[in-house]
Amino acid sequence: MVQATPFLLVLFLALGAHSFFPQQCILTGTWENDLGSNMTIKTIDAKGDFTGIYRTAVSASPRKIEDSPLLGSQHLQNPLNNPTFGFTVHWSFSESISVFTGQCFVDDDGKEVLKTMWLLRVHADKLGNDWNAT
Ligand SMILES: *[C@@H]1O[C@H](CO)[C@@H](O)[C@H](O)[C@H]1NC(C)=O
Repeated sequence: MVQATPFLLVLFLALGAHSFFPQQCILTGTWENDLGSNMTIKTIDAKGDFTGIYRTAVSASPRKIEDSPLLGSQHLQNPLNNPTFGFTVHWSFSESISVFTGQCFVDDDGKEVLKTMWLLRVHADKLGNDWNAT
């Protein structure tokens, strides 16, 4: 099981990747959230789809944290204007899955931020334990 905060809001800040393009909201690059977790989003393809790597700083799993692949999609119609996006993290070191959804913004200082929320699904061993698995 991977666990973050008791609330589901996560803020990601760009790790200095786009300083030459301060007014853009481009997801490609490396991001760090308020818990110290990092993710790297690779190239966005022509349909707005992307892959990447999520490296969490926090976990409730007894197993060693490993980099985990992510798979996502963003809207492209107006990529300079705060695109909405979503992605799935397929945890490499547990049977859990997380989904994130959010939007990119440029703050008053010209820094790109991702405002996201997430859900975590842990593996339930039987139907009767489904109630607290998400
Ligand atoms: C995330 O990146 C920062 C800056 O490079 C680093 O200090 C931190 O250890 C990284 N976090 C994880 C979980 O690897």
